[in-house]
Amino acid sequence: MSEIQIIPQPVSVKPTDGHFTLTPEAVIVAPGAAERTGQQLAAALAPATGFWLPVQASSSLTAGRIDLALDDALSGLGLEGYRLTVAPERVEIRAAGEAGLFYGMQSLLQLFPPEVFRAAPLGDTTWNAPCVEIEDMPRFGWRGAHLDVARHFMPKSFVLKFIDLLALHKLNSFHWHLTEDQGWRIEIKRYPRLTEVGAWRKETLVGHWSRNQKERRYDGVKHGGFYTQDDVREVVAYAAARHVNVVPEIEMPGHAQAAIAAYPELGNTGKPVEVAREWGVIEEVFNVEESTIQFMQGVMDEVLALFPSEFIHVGGDEVPKVYWQKSPAMQARIRELGLKDEDELQSYFIRQMDVYLTERGRRLIGWDEILEGGLAPNATVMSWRGEAGGIAAATAGHDVVMAPNTYTYLDYAQSQDSANEPLGIGNYLPLETVYGYEPIPPALSADAARAGHVLGAQAQLWSEYLPTPRSVEYMAFPRLSALAEVVWTPAERKDYGDFLGRLPEHLARLAALDVNYRKP
Ligand code: ACM
Repeated sequence: MSEIQIIPQPVSVKPTDGHFTLTPEAVIVAPGAAERTGQQLAAALAPATGFWLPVQASSSLTAGRIDLALDDALSGLGLEGYRLTVAPERVEIRAAGEAGLFYGMQSLLQLFPPEVFRAAPLGDTTWNAPCVEIEDMPRFGWRGAHLDVARHFMPKSFVLKFIDLLALHKLNSFHWHLTEDQGWRIEIKRYPRLTEVGAWRKETLVGHWSRNQKERRYDGVKHGGFYTQDDVREVVAYAAARHVNVVPEIEMPGHAQAAIAAYPELGNTGKPVEVAREWGVIEEVFNVEESTIQFMQGVMDEVLALFPSEFIHVGGDEVPKVYWQKSPAMQARIRELGLKDEDELQSYFIRQMDVYLTERGRRLIGWDEILEGGLAPNATVMSWRGEAGGIAAATAGHDVVMAPNTYTYLDYAQSQDSANEPLGIGNYLPLETVYGYEPIPPALSADAARAGHVLGAQAQLWSEYLPTPRSVEYMAFPRLSALAEVVWTPAERKDYGDFLGRLPEHLARLAALDVNYRKP
């Protein structure tokens, strides 16, 4: 077994002889714009080693140094690629961009013993890294994970830990699912009831939903929480320092009952509704009045001020049409706008958001239902009901992020032995299936332009059955480690057996980081 067990597998790994041994006398040499990553490396090494290594612009040392340098000569590896050389006297990371230096640092950390991820020294570790030459760059630009903090609120401390875990895996996109029927989780100053009312539900369904209302049981425990705008700024900045972009999702026109509970005029009946206590596809959806579109654009004004992300997610999934069919106002709206049906009414809603976002230099992204009734001109599609939506959108010249449920829904069970798994949403998605996912489907692979519309892929962590950070970690790992290899590693370098060989060392890293992974 090679000593070099990096996840995700780099493009090229050439082991050489010997070890670099880190000692308290080492220095980090990081001139100019490399300094920030140099400081991050010093901070990453300090807790577990107890060594507070100085970060300097230059050094006359000939041994015991770690050099970080920005180098345009490596621009062929892109801004996220890097070259990492470990020799007995010296470690060197070179990259054309800061993100590349950061990823070189992640690979270097994984060359040291897993104890390097602990929060304090154990006292008896020799900090050896095997000598090697690594050249590396990601396969896809969108390497993501989604987290639903709406079905169950996740504390900010866990959101920050989750971002650290993305960075460890060289993932660069955090899709923050902030609004749902069961809770609205982001402070919007113009509409305070969204969190005063919408962030709290009276209680939560126990177990699985039953068609028979009499069989449904609730826990009687108030649940909720939200992120203040300062919390959001902190999370976004924390992620940015780790080269992770935060894509906020504000659901519309469906999955909106919490917002309608706060502002009943956004709904179709004018009657008060509660923040939902149970899961599923709920018929209560926003109406498509101009005032509602303006309300959501008012929400977006604050969202755009908080999130620098080019992509803004507007949901768009699972919009039952029954309330619009029954509503005289919505039927009049369809006629007034010259639309054919309720699908076109939904498309109209999304198009208004597309215009709004495009005018502000942003790009709309939504779940694949936004294809129904006609795709908005500048929209990017996140394909979750398999790949069909993604293939259709890419064929029509739109960008796509692959998120098919059968490969990337990490809330699905990891084993068919349900007696020994936590209560879940059902379905079965083993580690090997996640690992085997190929984001470019055969229908697109023959045409480079179409294939190029696939920006990448991401994992989904829906939290109906994931009530705590521990349960999120259990479902996420090690499958998210497998997904990291799907989106980073060249297809021809992927090898499930080899991945399993590297996994025990990686699980030791996750254990050091107190991640509640599932033993494979
Ligand atoms: C989804 O799973 N409704 C996107």
